[in-house]
Amino acid sequence: MTYDNPSQPSSSIPNPDSSPAAPRKSQPEILIPADRIAARIRELGAEISRDYHGRPLRLIGVLKGAWVFLADLIRAIDLEEVTVDFLGVATYGDGKQTSGEVRFTKDLDQSIEGSEVLLVEDILDTGLTFDFILSVLRNRKPKSLRAVTLFDKASRRVRPVQADYVGFTIPDEFVVGFGLDFAQNYRQLPYIGVLK
Ligand code: PRP
Repeated sequence: MTYDNPSQPSSSIPNPDSSPAAPRKSQPEILIPADRIAARIRELGAEISRDYHGRPLRLIGVLKGAWVFLADLIRAIDLEEVTVDFLGVATYGDGKQTSGEVRFTKDLDQSIEGSEVLLVEDILDTGLTFDFILSVLRNRKPKSLRAVTLFDKASRRVRPVQADYVGFTIPDEFVVGFGLDFAQNYRQLPYIGVLK
């Protein structure tokens, strides 16, 4: 089954639970296809590998959205020592609206004191989450702290933060796929699409 073929109507995907009353999920419009995302992640991996050459790197993925990107990024990084940890973060509110209030749902498993840390995010939007996480991590005294985001909605920024590595700057549309959700759905799509 392919998801990045716009000519394939959603109705051709068999739905085992297709009673007449069952609501259908709408099919997102492709914004960035899977092959372009893969190529850009390879470039980011090469750039990060050059920048951290000879240094041990700790990747910190921000759950849930970043795990898909992190899984591809780590395999595009060519360094002798790369370790991984995860932070769980959620903003209050569901669906398309965020309250802007951030809370941790999972802390790191290991200390980052003295480590070279690269925070891995799927999307940088208002910057509230990013700002919150960076301020917490800075207090833990890493040797260095940088961030990579696959998608950047730069026009939506509320806090003056930016990532050191950016995959794609995207317009202010509600996007899903490649780890990004709408009410916990659509994360599995291999492309990024706009939900109308
Ligand atoms: C997304 C994304 C970032 C955050 C960015 O997470 O993963 O962490 O929003 O938004 P901001 O810049 O406006 O703070 P989300 O709250 O959707 O949770 P999820 O990662 O579990 O999907």
